[in-house]
Amino acid sequence: MRLFVTGTDTGVGKTLVAAALLHKCRERGWMAVGMKPVAAGCDDVDALIAAGNLALERHLVNPYFFDAAIAPHIAAEEAGVVIDLAHIADCYRQLSASAEAVIVEGAGGFLVPLGADRNSGDLARLLAVPLVLVVGMRLGCINHALLTQEAIKSRGLTLAGWVANRVTPGMERFEANLAALRQRLAAPLLGVVPFLDSPDPVAAADYLMLPEEAL
Ligand SMILES: Nc1ncnc2c1ncn2[C@@H]1O[C@H](COP(=O)(O)OP(=O)(O)O)[C@@H](O)[C@H]1O
Ligand SMILES: [Mg+2]
Repeated sequence: MRLFVTGTDTGVGKTLVAAALLHKCRERGWMAVGMKPVAAGCDDVDALIAAGNLALERHLVNPYFFDAAIAPHIAAEEAGVVIDLAHIADCYRQLSASAEAVIVEGAGGFLVPLGADRNSGDLARLLAVPLVLVVGMRLGCINHALLTQEAIKSRGLTLAGWVANRVTPGMERFEANLAALRQRLAAPLLGVVPFLDSPDPVAAADYLMLPEEAL
């Protein structure tokens, strides 16, 4: 199982869902590892390492780390670093060689720049991994989800499934929004994660299916 978790935005639950999917893979008895190719000012790497069951070198799990919580291409430029997608692909292949499941978490949304002439979508294309789209259920998310679907399809990539994550507990017309997304997203809904008072991957996993279970 290889998946690339993207989202309608930053802060929509990609890390929570990626960690929950790792938990589901472990429940199957698989050796599972998370990867965060580019992290800027977040502790996603620790969350993914904790959710997996393979102790692999951190520089493979997270080839690029920047302290500041800012757009990754700006963080890289300020640090004098060029994010090399081929290097990330090489790290991914090394992780992949020893794991039955690899869950890659993208940085921010699908077209987040990773340099002057490259973005997160280019990385997804290079890795050629099916995508899972986390939709942060809030006003505006339908447009963001559909734009992301188009960007995925136009790169010839597969949307393997999507997750409705209730980041805004009191969202108006939640069911109608969910129905609108179901009609328009050409991929299985892997689950609806409710707003969780203490959001942890094991709790979130209860609400999710792996793409192969959702067909
Ligand atoms: N279903 C949920 N219920 C409650 N809090 C959530 C839920 N999903 C995400 N969160 C919280 O929202 C924040 C952003 O989630 P995170 O997974 O880090 O998003 P991303 O990886 O897309 O930036 C975190 O503090 C997380 O705990
Ligand atoms: Mg994250």
